This record gives sequence, C-alpha cells and structure tokens, in this order.
Amino acid sequence: MKILFVCIGNICRSPIAEGVLKHLAEEKLVPWQIDSAGTHNYHVGEPPHSSSIKVCKANKIDIHNQQSRQITLDDLTNFDRIYTLATDVHQDVLRLCTSDAQRKKVTLFLEELYPGQQKSVKDPWYGTYPDYEEVFAEITEVCKIIIRKYS
Ligand code: 4NP
Repeated sequence: MKILFVCIGNICRSPIAEGVLKHLAEEKLVPWQIDSAGTHNYHVGEPPHSSSIKVCKANKIDIHNQQSRQITLDDLTNFDRIYTLATDVHQDVLRLCTSDAQRKKVTLFLEELYPGQQKSVKDPWYGTYPDYEEVFAEITEVCKIIIRKYS
C-alpha cells in the first residue's frame, strides 16, 4: 500500500506523520511506501521544521533528510490512501481530485481517532516546542491505529 500524508507546508505535521508511520512499519515489517507533501509551495526543498526534527529525534526517529515538496496531480493517481492532516488541507486536496476514485482515497487523518468529528491536527507552525510534542503524541496515536487496522 502507498500512503501519502498531506499538510500545508510539508515541514511541520506531515513530515512527523511520515517519519512515525515509516518507523512503525519498519518495526512491524509492514512493506508500505510512505511519503508526505504540502498543499502549498512555500517551503519546497526545505528540511522539516527544526522542532519537528527535534521531537522525532527525541523519540528515536530521524526525519532530517526529508525535503518539502508540493502535492502533484500524479500523487492522486499513484497513492492508495491520502491522509489530510487538517480540514482546510482536506478541502484543498479534494478540489484537486478529478474522479470519485481519487476522492475516495482522501481521508481526514483524525477520522481514524475521532470518527465523524471533522478534527484537525493543530498547526504547530505558530506555536512553541510543547505544541510539537503534543502534535507528535497525537500523530503517533493515529499511526498506531492505521498500522493495526490496515496492515
Ligand atoms: P505544516 O505547517 O502545514 O504542518 O507544515 C505549516 C508550515 C508553514 C506554513 C503553514 C503551516 N506557512 O504558512 O508557511
């Protein structure tokens, strides 16, 4: 299965989700391809935010080699599941879809933890390090559900 995580800048939230799910998949020998992207091109080519790198490193996950990229129309074909980290991102990704088959792949990430509640992972971009710790914990909880449910 090919899984894509999408946030706005692909430097704070989705890089953490990519790192955490890759880590869990390796641990459980689950052969998924996992990637992340942003709806916007503000940070293309940049590594993840220093606080995202730091909170992952504190949990033995290395994401410093990731590079921000913008989602492409090909992603909507190539990936099997596309997890949006927030409701604004979800709407933006749905707007890019050109078929029901593509739209069916797009799932709001927190639906796995809080079904029907339309919740977003809080954007830590405007916050401080403890916000990144909170985001890391929530993302990890959801990634564990994803591994359990779909592997
Ligand atoms: P992310 O956070 O979507 O979790 O990567 C953001 C990063 C940058 C910006 C917004 C959100 N920005 O406006 O530059």
